[in-house]
Amino acid sequence: MEILSDVSRTFEEYLFIPGETTKDCIPSKVSLKTPLVKYRRGEKSPIKLNIPFTSAIMQAVSGAEMAIKLASSGGLSFIFGSQPIESQAEMVRKVKRFKAGFVISDSNLTPQHALADVLALVEKTGHSTIAITHDGTATGKLLGLVTGRDHRPERDSLDKKIADFMTPFDKLKFAKKGVSLSEANDLLWQEKLNALPIVDNDQCLVAFVFRKDYDSHKTNPNELLDEDKALLVGAGINTHDYQERVPALADAGVDVLCIDSSHGYSEWQQECLIWCKKNFPHLPIGAGNVVDGRAFRYLAEAGADFIKVGIGGGSICITREQKGIGRGQASALMDVAITRDAYLEETGIYIPICSDGGIAQDYHMTLALAMGADFLMMGRYFARFDEAPGQKLFKDGQYVKEYWGEGSNRARNYQRYNETGSNTLEFEEGVDSYVPYAGKLQDGLEQTLAKIKATMCSCGVTTIATLQENAVLTLVSEASRVEGGAHDVIKKS
Ligand code: IMP
Repeated sequence: MEILSDVSRTFEEYLFIPGETTKDCIPSKVSLKTPLVKYRRGEKSPIKLNIPFTSAIMQAVSGAEMAIKLASSGGLSFIFGSQPIESQAEMVRKVKRFKAGFVISDSNLTPQHALADVLALVEKTGHSTIAITHDGTATGKLLGLVTGRDHRPERDSLDKKIADFMTPFDKLKFAKKGVSLSEANDLLWQEKLNALPIVDNDQCLVAFVFRKDYDSHKTNPNELLDEDKALLVGAGINTHDYQERVPALADAGVDVLCIDSSHGYSEWQQECLIWCKKNFPHLPIGAGNVVDGRAFRYLAEAGADFIKVGIGGGSICITREQKGIGRGQASALMDVAITRDAYLEETGIYIPICSDGGIAQDYHMTLALAMGADFLMMGRYFARFDEAPGQKLFKDGQYVKEYWGEGSNRARNYQRYNETGSNTLEFEEGVDSYVPYAGKLQDGLEQTLAKIKATMCSCGVTTIATLQENAVLTLVSEASRVEGGAHDVIKKS
């Protein structure tokens, strides 16, 4: 038996001591770019994040909607793996197909439908532009359009055929597939249109660009894109069915994988990494989770492209109570970061580390970066936003979103907690909970990033690498923590 000499510490126990802030050290000069996957010293990481955030591999966090919005803002989602292979691959496809501003039509009918069908559809979707295609699908041959200007419900008979009042294709303004968003927007304005259909060479409908969306699709400078200008997306895998899951995800166009497990220091992960590297050598793959340098080395040597740190610190996690396993997130991170740096000195290869779980305050994110994390993975933080899959509910006087652990009975992700091949979840390692609702991801992110940049400027740095080199931290006593909040005043509520 061995007892480590250091105490298991967490973010809440530290604060930054400010550094010298020079005049050019201002938030607009701060870069939060960071490597996602390993690279040789002197070269560049093949994938860099524009903001150091990834969303957790969880049912309650990372579906296609979150993945689209987070990658549009410069981060990355790992689509949850605790679902059938085909549905996970379909979510990946949805993200890869997404093009900002190009909307797949959700209101489609055929020329044989009647005015009554139009009115019913408008009532159902709330959208007044209806594509008329040969088969009534969103990708059928476009034969015309119906908008509110094409019919007068109070005069027209409800059984009037669409063919008799639609605007036919030969009278429509349209653009060809491949048009850029800015060209499409120019056409909308020039031609005074509300909706511009985009069609392929066979006149089949591809998408619409709507005038009302104009403000929201000005391109986001932080967007995380591949060479074909599609958003980047990751996916979680497990050590049970990877031989079937990985080919399906690769086929769907996934950019990066991550083995999702509460315990990464295992032969199953080693085998999985070796198989993936042999069969999909160009698809980067992360592994974990670990909490010390020994386990980092083990996964590094097995081929991991990044390594995830954190056991038992997640907000919904009860692993430490159930199994007595884990380590304070700050201690785990600093220990693994020392080994990562030593590994770089020995091999010339830099393997990024991800701090996963336990972020309760925005400043904890900056602390995690200063302690050596290249990027963060967060569940609770993202679960609060509209884009997370959990339901929004009104509970005890406030709006909340549902947030449940992968080790809870609700998710039953036995693959994450049981690498031994048996497919049962014998006891829970996570809870089913609520988190306060926080609105739109983009608004929340803006505020969080502003805080991180402000802290970095107070420390006198404008990059994550210099934050890691120069940050000075102090441990805080319980009394100084109390001093840090509003105290000895009567707060107006
Ligand atoms: P959070 O950001 O503190 O909410 O932590 C999220 C992280 O907790 C995830 O990325 C996982 O590593 C971990 N996690 C997810 N579900 C469970 C669970 O049921 N039990 C323990 N840990 C979990």
